[in-house]
Amino acid sequence: MKGIVLAGGAGTRLHPVTLSVSKQLLPVYDKPMVYYPLSVLMLAGVREILLISTPDHLPQFRSLLGDGSRLGLELTYAEQPEPRGLADAFVIGADHVGDDTAALVLGDNIFHGPRFAEILERTAADVEGCVLFGYPVGDPERYGVAVTDAGGRLVDIEEKPARPRSNRAITGLYFYDNDVVDIAKNIRPSPRGELEITDVNRVYLERGDAQLVDLGRGFAWLDTGTHDSLLAAGQYLQTLEHRQGVRIACLEEVALRMGFIDAAHCYTLGEQLGDTGYGRYVRAIAVEHGHPGVSDDLF
Ligand code: DAU
Repeated sequence: MKGIVLAGGAGTRLHPVTLSVSKQLLPVYDKPMVYYPLSVLMLAGVREILLISTPDHLPQFRSLLGDGSRLGLELTYAEQPEPRGLADAFVIGADHVGDDTAALVLGDNIFHGPRFAEILERTAADVEGCVLFGYPVGDPERYGVAVTDAGGRLVDIEEKPARPRSNRAITGLYFYDNDVVDIAKNIRPSPRGELEITDVNRVYLERGDAQLVDLGRGFAWLDTGTHDSLLAAGQYLQTLEHRQGVRIACLEEVALRMGFIDAAHCYTLGEQLGDTGYGRYVRAIAVEHGHPGVSDDLF
């Protein structure tokens, strides 16, 4: 499976903060926003990942993440000069996907919840058609909305309906079989001139090939679209990380747990992060996984 992180757009709702910095690189508590969606692809076992952003912002992502090898990944980059829609990711990423299955995650989506890693691994292992993730929200009119029948089967998908027929938003994480590339190339742009991911998903739905996985209310799918929701997301993560003594979406830890890197390499990455809470955490994780460490390796 190939992965794509879509991290373009102008982030206009966060101006002036995003006038010179990519939205997806803003801090969400203790790490850049893009760490969260990147960790999602990694937890799904995906190692070949294309990151798409604007020509202005792409160099910032490159300097943060490089070629991904330090995390056991193969990271490549592509430009999206204008926001031409989420489905444009598969037009830009057609060569990257090749004849494989694909997962797309939006660079500003933050997921956290019970057994998520298990759900991701299981989904990625066997993708037929498309797999979408539904999440109950109080303001479904702001999202793609899933309509299900009494048996929970997906029967309709609507993009930002004025009168939503359910409270189930479709989150910014999508798994597809290889047909997605052709479908994305053949849908017509919306009146806004964008290739809507909802139109791609509707093609799968009409074929009877779209599946909805309910994330449920015990889960957290956090919004980062406004100053208030961005701050609230950071505070939520701060609360959890302090309470549990773990870090969410720590890429070094995820890479180690997924077997992409070994404990010795993880420890070195922790050392490179120096005498910071994050660096100490990465070293402690490496020690937990068998690295001998040194005496001050504490959480
Ligand atoms: O977050 C989930 C929602 O994402 C879904 O429920 C909707 O069905 C889907 O259309 C999308 O809605 P948004 O209103 O959030 O889409 P937005 O245009 O804000 O784009 C989402 C992110 O993707 C944003 O950080 C910018 C980036 N983006 C967007 C477009 C249209 C790109 O990188 N390139 C683009 O062309």
